Amino acid sequence: MAGTAVTTIVAADAADATRRMAAQIAEVSRSGAGVAQSIALSGGSTPKLLYETLAAPPFHDRVRWDRLELFFGDERAVPPHDPESNYGMVRRALLDHVPATAHRMAAETGDAAGYERLMGERIKARRDGFAVLDLVLLGIGKDGHTASLFPGTAALLEAQRWVVMNDVPQLQTRRMTMTYPLINRARRVWVLATGADKREIVAQCLAVLASGESAPQWPITGVRPLGGQLVWWLDEAARG
Ligand code: 6PG
Repeated sequence: MAGTAVTTIVAADAADATRRMAAQIAEVSRSGAGVAQSIALSGGSTPKLLYETLAAPPFHDRVRWDRLELFFGDERAVPPHDPESNYGMVRRALLDHVPATAHRMAAETGDAAGYERLMGERIKARRDGFAVLDLVLLGIGKDGHTASLFPGTAALLEAQRWVVMNDVPQLQTRRMTMTYPLINRARRVWVLATGADKREIVAQCLAVLASGESAPQWPITGVRPLGGQLVWWLDEAARG
């Protein structure tokens, strides 16, 4: 099987990586000839620096916030003020400081179909019946998960739905997540991994993508855009 075309960008450190990503996000906000650009945000701890960078000068003013519409790629089943909430993290780092439109995934309600409907109303572009997001931001867990697509979970097999609730027995929890068919129809998918603790999984997964083999034990390797751009943003510590 042919390998997947991945552009890897290796920045000096996490601050450099997030500044460069922020500059590219400003470009995305200025593209699209006036049509709002849809971005799915990632959660966890790594992207916090990216969101803080976007909220501060010069990006605060360089990004056309009125031309962006923010969604979430996954969410924990907790209310927004819970320390575990991805929305809460993004709100404190970014949304409290910029005039952005953002749609929280209310995972605690279990209403994945509702989020799918909302995306369907707000995003006009389609490919094979799936919304085409302009940009999907993702991270990687040390177990190879991305969004809330965890190893061995049912959501990995989802072929029809855009967004599902996913039981994650290894964390004894349930989360809402975008599915592969939605992610893989995006125009751009950018994966951010920084720090030495991601080095091993990054090397393993980039090798799988280059070989074209499948490795369902590391769900991030199922992120293979069908026509869109795939960029892995790393720092030197994560690249090794
Ligand atoms: C989440 C995610 C998840 C995340 C990875 C990496 O809600 O946890 O969106 O997929 O990107 O777990 O998380 P860290 O950045 O905390 O290592």
